[in-house]
Amino acid sequence: MSDQQQGVSPAFASAFQTYQKCISAIEKKIVERFTGRPIGMTQEDYEKVPLRMEKVFRGLALEKRLTLAFDWMFESRETSNWTYDLRENSQTHLASLIAHIGNVPLSTVENYFAEIQNDQELFEHIRTLSITKRNNGNPTDPVPRFGRRLGWYALARICKPKIIVETGLDKGLGSVTFAAALKRNIAEGYPGHYYGLDIHKHTGFLLTGPYAPYGTVIIKDSVEFLASFKEQIDLLILDGCHHAEHEEKELALAEPLLTPTSIIVSDTSQDPILDFARRTGREFQLFIEKSKDYWLPGVGNTIAFPCRTRRDGFENKPMPRGAAQSSCSINSQKM
Ligand SMILES: C[S@@+](CC[C@H](N)C(=O)[O-])C[C@H]1O[C@@H](n2cnc3c(N)ncnc32)[C@H](O)[C@@H]1O
Repeated sequence: MSDQQQGVSPAFASAFQTYQKCISAIEKKIVERFTGRPIGMTQEDYEKVPLRMEKVFRGLALEKRLTLAFDWMFESRETSNWTYDLRENSQTHLASLIAHIGNVPLSTVENYFAEIQNDQELFEHIRTLSITKRNNGNPTDPVPRFGRRLGWYALARICKPKIIVETGLDKGLGSVTFAAALKRNIAEGYPGHYYGLDIHKHTGFLLTGPYAPYGTVIIKDSVEFLASFKEQIDLLILDGCHHAEHEEKELALAEPLLTPTSIIVSDTSQDPILDFARRTGREFQLFIEKSKDYWLPGVGNTIAFPCRTRRDGFENKPMPRGAAQSSCSINSQKM
């Protein structure tokens, strides 16, 4: 251990070693690139490399990702499944996409976003539990930051699903988001229930107290669960194991449980949902978050939903007549 590292805990020393490895890798890359001019590049072009390098570093500084990362290291308690808010324009992009999927005006979606963002009971519930509870042993931040889950909430409010299934619970931020939507749907006369799955015990602690009646936590592998589930799924969120092969299996098992109006969301930017949408005649969209004041840019959500517009490649198996129109009233249609 170097002198600099003396006196710090083994965890800090390990973090510092990782940092040094990153710096050495960057240094190595710079030296490698400076030792020979690539074929096709003139000496004059090559001399512009430092200028481009400066632009890169300036861009990184402008983005403030590094300073945000340092703030996060010392201010957050999260070690996985990081939460953050969306930038204002990213939130509007998401609202616009959900408006298209739900076939409702943008203002309707924005009102649903405001509904959850102003839900003081929900905020207090998340805040109090997050201070004391651990997710599978990991601490979480006592601040509700919904990010892309705003879209999940609005989808549940617009489509009034009878059955929502979410694979992957973590602390249960998605679960409680859906429970809050179902609570309001039920009060408005649209019954519904949420099933949340995880392979780890001690997950989903947020789906408790006043939100417990709206959902069921099941500790089981998602593939195993979907193989034996018998009910129709109106809204399926895949946020457990994100290996493409696992998602393919989940989709294959879920397919007979889906109706023509079911909506499927994956919490990744991977392609299984795209292939599924193509195969089942659904429309496909990808939403990429832009995080607000956060060190990571945000993740993607892929979504397959009933066709609003016919496009090349998505017409292999047309939806039944009228299915697209009814996707906003999943619940009332089946009641
Ligand atoms: C990204 S987190 C879920 C986040 C959550 N949906 C939310 O909204 O915050 C992924 C979770 O999936 C669980 N998981 C991983 N593989 C799984 C599987 N095969 N079946 C069910 N859950 C799984 C992990 O234990 C982890 O808690």
